[in-house]
Amino acid sequence: MKNRKIVFANQKGGVGKSTLCILFANYLAWKGKSVCIIDTDLQKTILMQRQKDTQIYEDWDEPYNVQDFDVTDPETMQQLMDSAAQVDGYVLFDSPGNISEDGLAPLFVDADFIVCPYEYEDKTLDSTGVFVQVLNALREHNPQMHAQIFFVPNRIDPRIGTADEQMMWRETDDLFGKFGKVTPVVNSRAALKRTNTFELLATQRDAVKKAFEYMIKKMK
Ligand SMILES: Nc1ncnc2c1ncn2[C@@H]1O[C@H](COP(=O)(O)OP(=O)(O)OP(=O)(O)O)[C@@H](O)[C@H]1O
Ligand SMILES: [Mg+2]
Repeated sequence: MKNRKIVFANQKGGVGKSTLCILFANYLAWKGKSVCIIDTDLQKTILMQRQKDTQIYEDWDEPYNVQDFDVTDPETMQQLMDSAAQVDGYVLFDSPGNISEDGLAPLFVDADFIVCPYEYEDKTLDSTGVFVQVLNALREHNPQMHAQIFFVPNRIDPRIGTADEQMMWRETDDLFGKFGKVTPVVNSRAALKRTNTFELLATQRDAVKKAFEYMIKKMK
């Protein structure tokens, strides 16, 4: 099976990095794909979620592995990326908010794909823009960097949006589209607040299906 290293990142906090990372792992596992998650975020959101889930789903087999990793320096980060490249299947990384953090560079330089969730909200758009600039600067200094970026509009309420706002959304998508692929949107859904690392509910699957199928196709 092919190896793919996929990093969920955006320096803006709370945009859905950890949630979409878990959902993508659940979705791939549901499709019978081989997948694991490496939690490089100091907050350990996914690792703690898995620990909680292990108590609740005590009779279930773990659908995939969740691995802990603390970013300390570029050398150990590089070693992690080298061993991740030996894994068959999809290796997903949840990343810390601050991407200019010491030692993190190999995560982005060696990634095959970067999944960047964002929301249509002024502050989020600004910091997502800065994030794109940081990635571009990293590319300039590291010619071997090859990651394709997926921008995922997340937590969208399809009922709101004046004509002006909708135009702003389209302009945003056009702008991000210059740096990567903008996926179909993931709507704001109560069911996604109950995301866990064992079970993908049908309502959750429906909410992410379009965006994830789009990404999986491009990752072939
Ligand atoms: N599409 C969605 N619909 C409803 N709730 C969502 C959606 N996406 C994310 N959330 C909720 O938003 C909150 C923040 O999401 P999450 O923790 O995944 O963000 P994050 O980018 O990983 O944050 P951090 O920067 O702190 O790591 C969570 O409570 C999550 O349940
Ligand atoms: Mg997170």
